[in-house]
Amino acid sequence: MASNNSQPLQGMTDICAPEVFLWQQLESVARSVFDLYGFCEIRTPVLERTEVFTHSIGDDTDIVQKEMYTFEDRGGRSLTMRPEGTAGVVRYLSGVGQEARDARVFYIGPMYRAERPQAGRKRQFHQCGVEMVGEANPVLDAECIALQLQLLEAWGLTDCSVQVNTRGQAGETGAIAEQLKAELEPERENLCEDCRRRMDANVLRVLDCKNPACGAIVEKLPPITEFMSDESSEYFENVVAALQDLGLSPEVNPRLVRGLDYYNHTVWEITHKALGAQDALAGGGRYTIGKGKNELSGVGFAIGMERVMMALEAKGVAGEDYAGGLDVWLVSMGEAAMAANFKLEQKLRAAGVSCNMDLNGRSMKAQMRAANRADAKFVVIRGESEMERGILLLKDMDSGEQTEERPDTLVARLRS
Ligand code: HAM
Repeated sequence: MASNNSQPLQGMTDICAPEVFLWQQLESVARSVFDLYGFCEIRTPVLERTEVFTHSIGDDTDIVQKEMYTFEDRGGRSLTMRPEGTAGVVRYLSGVGQEARDARVFYIGPMYRAERPQAGRKRQFHQCGVEMVGEANPVLDAECIALQLQLLEAWGLTDCSVQVNTRGQAGETGAIAEQLKAELEPERENLCEDCRRRMDANVLRVLDCKNPACGAIVEKLPPITEFMSDESSEYFENVVAALQDLGLSPEVNPRLVRGLDYYNHTVWEITHKALGAQDALAGGGRYTIGKGKNELSGVGFAIGMERVMMALEAKGVAGEDYAGGLDVWLVSMGEAAMAANFKLEQKLRAAGVSCNMDLNGRSMKAQMRAANRADAKFVVIRGESEMERGILLLKDMDSGEQTEERPDTLVARLRS
């Protein structure tokens, strides 16, 4: 089969007009919501040393096992295209002074996972996320969830479902895993092949296996909170209480564990019914990453932007709704008019009027078509007779009304 060189790689997308207008709109709304909460933007590199991800996300996770774009550079160092944003942010914050660590940052950017592409699942996708680094505090976890819901609402997604759970505090993970394993042991042979492997490598993941046979076994287990300390259960109760104080009532799902090993305490997932099989719109949780003096605890979330677009499209929202359009398109008949328009164009831009023109001497009809494509509000027309008379024609593209104008008063006229 002949390859089509104009296509991007499978699972990756060119984002251009008109969709890009919706992207810009969502990003701008996100920035203003993050401002309200005192968050500052961070832009970490897309490429990191592989251990930044393996040491945080965990060796036995699907992301690290199967989904990372990893390669060796010329010096033989293993590098990875970031599959998510948290690890890079924590890498950065672990290098700054203690004071600066209590940061509240947000990021919007591309992430890479070598997954099987399908609707809502890409190999290059975009996350909009935040990280709040600092001591574990149930109220902060609740604030983080509230921020995420406020952002989704500001985007027009008011019909999301939130599920929360806890994985217990960091030091308890081993003990919880042991108890869970003991509970599951009598059913080992009835679990799917993946879960039999997970029993030894990452037993918590058995809880959220999608296989119906595993689901039926998991259904009979006591909730995960029964395997943890009173302190951890109380922390979680305080998160739920703080959310209720804010008027939010998330569903507690004792099977929710999330697929990244750095989580402890609170985890949550936000779904939207318009998304079908890949219904996770966003996920978040509290985490501990790093060892010794580099250990950082924080809470954060990431929203999948492509999935937000899908949910909005299902509501009839489209990029066209946010297309800006040009203020003016300049149409020239003849070389002298083109040269005069070219100068005028620069003057208009300097005055803050957006404009464009054809510089290839195309026909009047072709230039008018270009003006329509650019969604210009006005068209300025100049030919030989307008040049001789020192005027130009201004056509209002909405009303079709055409007036004669002087070039030196055009800016004032356009602003009136
Ligand atoms: P995650 O659940 O792996 O969490 O990803 C967050 C969101 O990114 C998902 O809910 C989904 O919307 C989107 N997403 C993930 N993979 C794909 C894909 N292949 N194609 C399209 N969208 C995708 C994290 O990444 C954590 N870092 C979130 C976090 C931040 N936790 C604490 N801080």
